[in-house]
Amino acid sequence: MNSSDYTPAAKALHWLIALLIFVLFPLGWAMDDFTGVQKFQAFNLHKSLGITVLALMVLRVIWRFFNSVPELPASMPERQRKAAHAAHALLYLATFLITFAGWALISTSSKPSVLFQVTNFPLLPWLSDLPADDKKAYHHLFEGAHGFLGWVLLALIVAHIAGALYHAIVLKDGIYSSMKPNFGKKPSGLAVALLAFGAGFLGLSGTGKAVASEWSVKPEASQIAFEATGGGYTTKGTFGQYRAEIEFDPDAPEQTAVRVLLNMNSAATGTADADEALRSAEFFNPAQFPTAQYAARGAQSAGAGKYVLNGRLTLKGVTKPVSLPFLINIKSGTAHVTAETKINRLDFGVGQETMAGLAVDNDVKLTIDLTAVRLDN
Ligand code: HEM
Repeated sequence: MNSSDYTPAAKALHWLIALLIFVLFPLGWAMDDFTGVQKFQAFNLHKSLGITVLALMVLRVIWRFFNSVPELPASMPERQRKAAHAAHALLYLATFLITFAGWALISTSSKPSVLFQVTNFPLLPWLSDLPADDKKAYHHLFEGAHGFLGWVLLALIVAHIAGALYHAIVLKDGIYSSMKPNFGKKPSGLAVALLAFGAGFLGLSGTGKAVASEWSVKPEASQIAFEATGGGYTTKGTFGQYRAEIEFDPDAPEQTAVRVLLNMNSAATGTADADEALRSAEFFNPAQFPTAQYAARGAQSAGAGKYVLNGRLTLKGVTKPVSLPFLINIKSGTAHVTAETKINRLDFGVGQETMAGLAVDNDVKLTIDLTAVRLDN
């Protein structure tokens, strides 16, 4: 290695990041045009490669911290040196910012993200824990920032490549060759390890097992019901309107993503008085909280056809963990799901401890019976 060259590790990091960014741009622009499972896969490939760029950038900064970089030629005017340093600092900054904006974007999204088709994406906790409405607002913000930073980064990359070519073709001052890959020379162990890491990651993203299938619930053959007991009476009701987004694969339950939105105005017991009570501020208060949401990512297997979702229920603006064991039976693309759980209504501010002098059970039973067809059948 020439002393005016970057080390093989620095070169490996530079070219690996360049290659990934080269793939990320067209993928970012094109992925919205895909449909169904391919769209999900394209988005998750983009997210996974993007987060890899972030990891490699961190390694790169660590490398820079412990290593000196080749000197710029003495013939280079001071103004050009300053411009080159500023351009490089901006490239680092824009790359970090775009990856963080991407990470923030998926941390405020309602859609699931799977890292290299292997595991759920780790989300930024202070963003993923925000209430749904705040998340939506932040999501828009990060979406705009991510797109804008794309154009900033692209402009910086174009300037960077133009500068490199000017040094390589016109000035021939050795700046370009200091970062040129040394094909044919024996690479260092670290550079080989970095390239193997990159190739392994890329391979993993292309050859992973199939992602969870999307399912569409058939409302005419499905029911979401609740049951509360008090004063010797049992009140049963159903939610007439709800939306369920389900991604599930029995062979990869860890990739499960479920979101059920309930229209709280659609709760009906068959008794006008009881329905009116449910719509009061004391009970569901749909005027202020028109929807309730149950969202879960990843299911645990609990024996043949049995799984458990550890999700979060948001009801009357209160979010609490609720685990939901379910049984699923899939036959030629149609799934029948039954699930049952209990929630403590007082946790969500639904009703009071006693109602009209009657003791009412705090636990309310929720039962779910869904029939769904696989969309990518
Ligand atoms: C250097 C790294 C990255 C580059 C160059 C890049 C580039 C892009 C580009 C050009 C788009 C299209 C923007 C548009 O159509 O307005 C995009 C979209 C997107 N990117 Fe990235 N990205 C990077 C990293 C990431 C990361 C780390 C994540 C998440 C972990 C991510 C998540 C997304 C998502 C979710 C979208 C779709 C946004 C939407 O729905 O409008 N990106 N990206």
